Amino acid sequence: MTAEDDAVDGPVGHALWERADQVLPGGGVYRTRSADMAGRGVLPGFIAQAQGCRCVDADGRTYIDFLAANGPNLLGYRHREVEAAAEATRAQLTTASMLPPQLVEVVERILATWTDMGWGVVAKNGSEVVTLGVRVARQHTGRTQVVGFTNAYHGNDPELAVGAPEGPLTHITSDVQRIAWNDPQALVNHMATHGDYVAAILLNPLDQRPLVATTAPSQDFLAAIEQARDQFGALLVFDDVRHGLRLHPNGSHHLYGLEPDLVALGKALGNGHAISALMGRNHARRAARKIMFTSTYMFEAPPMAAAMATLDIYERDAVFDHMQRVGQQFCDGIASAATATGHKVVLSGPPTMPTLQFGDDPNHGRVRTFCRHAAENGVLIHPFLNWFISGAHTEADIDLALDALRTAFAATPTA
Ligand SMILES: Cc1ncc(COP(=O)(O)O)c(C=O)c1O
Repeated sequence: MTAEDDAVDGPVGHALWERADQVLPGGGVYRTRSADMAGRGVLPGFIAQAQGCRCVDADGRTYIDFLAANGPNLLGYRHREVEAAAEATRAQLTTASMLPPQLVEVVERILATWTDMGWGVVAKNGSEVVTLGVRVARQHTGRTQVVGFTNAYHGNDPELAVGAPEGPLTHITSDVQRIAWNDPQALVNHMATHGDYVAAILLNPLDQRPLVATTAPSQDFLAAIEQARDQFGALLVFDDVRHGLRLHPNGSHHLYGLEPDLVALGKALGNGHAISALMGRNHARRAARKIMFTSTYMFEAPPMAAAMATLDIYERDAVFDHMQRVGQQFCDGIASAATATGHKVVLSGPPTMPTLQFGDDPNHGRVRTFCRHAAENGVLIHPFLNWFISGAHTEADIDLALDALRTAFAATPTA
């Protein structure tokens, strides 16, 4: 690592990287949660504190944060009321031998918001509940094949992993067929020959992947998905882990008028506490009941209390509307700052979760330089992944962030 590569990390961050390189198998394992993904030195490697919409790196430098722990920061890091709810529960119970009462309460609370769902199962992370959704669909249909879409991320289950499977594991993805996004005819063709084997159609609300502009599903594409599900009896598993609570306050499928059979939710649900959920309609309940799904810390009560508080505050404070408003302010400000400094950029995605690409940036060097200058000026944005607005970003925070981004644009070479 050269001193130049190490621009954002200070001496403490630098020393932590040196130690991490000794004891972790490289940043690649954690991928999106390692600053290495952005190029070492573009983003600070280690975050030591976070509050509201700000975080502090291991060297004590403060940033206005648009990474949101890759989604969980919905209301603001360490939101006072969420932390108080989790602490009050923790004073009585962490995890015990049987189910905590909060398990029933939290599923009731989730279903009060996702009113079209009939039951829920709580876990810790998004990956677990997406994988569980696929298991429920297989159990329900007695079939094995999963239809997904090209390069859509669905968590850490090796069967659902993006990209070519590694070495000896090549066989495990043979039951997952990936079809091009927004290509209804490809789906129709696939179902015509394989429809009777398809257990699940696994869908994200957006095609929002690293390094490319975000694309919403077309109406034709969505109609073909529902038609395929209805005609062949597969279940539609909607992966709302990343977008949940940021596209629509009652579940992203409402944005499109979709009626999924199963919905996976994670990230924002606990505002930083480890909790995720799979919800389903009543016709899939019997299949879900047959599946053994358990792990030691799934029954921790404080994250359940945190999730209930998060949903209550989100609704009470109309956080979705606020995020839309300040997100739009942010996107509009970035577009004008880019134009004013002679940069051609593509801003895509919803205002609550935008992504940015530069024109004429084949190796992504320009976007990386821009994000590095942004970090040096106190704003954390990712060069490759989508950003997240939270309920804690005020209009004044957005103005401050835009000032920093104007400086970052001016410092970034134009094409
Ligand atoms: C769309 C989507 N599905 C599933 C997951 C997996 O969630 P987790 O990382 O909480 O296991 C992610 C995580 O980024 C995601 O973006």
